[in-house]
Amino acid sequence: MSSVEATTTPAADSATVEQTGGIRIRNLTHRYGRGPGTVTALGPIDLEVAAGEFLMLVGASGCGKSTLLRILAGFEPVRDGQVEVGRAAPVPGVGSGVVFQQPRLFPWQTVGGNVELALKYAGVPRELRAARRDELLARVELDDTAARRVWEISGGQQQRVAIARALAANTSLLLLDEPFAALDALTRDRLQDDLRRVSAESGRTNVFVTHSADEAVFLGSRIVVLTRRPGRIALDLTVDLPRSGVDPDELRASARFAQLRREVASAVKAAAA
Ligand SMILES: Nc1ncnc2c1ncn2[C@@H]1O[C@H](COP(=O)(O)OP(=O)(O)OP(=O)(O)O)[C@@H](O)[C@H]1O
Ligand SMILES: [Mg+2]
Repeated sequence: MSSVEATTTPAADSATVEQTGGIRIRNLTHRYGRGPGTVTALGPIDLEVAAGEFLMLVGASGCGKSTLLRILAGFEPVRDGQVEVGRAAPVPGVGSGVVFQQPRLFPWQTVGGNVELALKYAGVPRELRAARRDELLARVELDDTAARRVWEISGGQQQRVAIARALAANTSLLLLDEPFAALDALTRDRLQDDLRRVSAESGRTNVFVTHSADEAVFLGSRIVVLTRRPGRIALDLTVDLPRSGVDPDELRASARFAQLRREVASAVKAAAA
């Protein structure tokens, strides 16, 4: 399950972030709690993500993937190490659209209202919002649901509203935490195809968490596998598959795809041991 806290900034505040979308992480360690109950969730980690990269984060449950995403979103403080998004420290609500692992839709809003709110924060003029909302809902195959209440739609549908909301945020960085995990295979494949195409066109930076080697190879331009907790980088792999101009089904059926998938799957297994 997942949802979106689609967050953007007024252009003036976020000029640097909007322009670069790159990420720099230096010697980052993240701990929860203090004293004997301290849990070291992550690190130490060094990672640079260039603007426009599609980074997939893969690793066993509890290895710190969501923690890293929340840090990049500015929702967890950085106490040990340095993190820059664009050229600034991450600030909640600035510079990134986020699809969380847990639902965070506004229950008092309709489906359409949730998307429109994100468009409003993204600075889309009022008179253009309805058309843009319908376009985004159509993209996640939720045509004709704008007037429905969030609790009237299924979990998988809520998740797709969350994705539409994140896409509404016109930020140079998109953070996605297992957004497709609860979807049926057909819908997931279609949304993967769409996200791959849209990301190639938009030049946006994406950081996407998944447990699936298949999804990692299909979507990613780069794959980072984390060890078990505390998560460190076990593998940093560039995906040498074409990013555009190729049929998604052909890509999935290619020998190179299968080879990369095997490589990632075995790295995940080794890293979790
Ligand atoms: N708020 C918190 N307080 C204390 N410990 C936490 C907190 N959030 C996460 N943790 C712990 O930090 C570790 C990393 O958690 P995180 O949610 O980042 O893992 P994950 O890789 O996203 O796992 P999953 O694949 O199951 O979603 C886990 O051991 C978890 O129990
Ligand atoms: Mg998680």
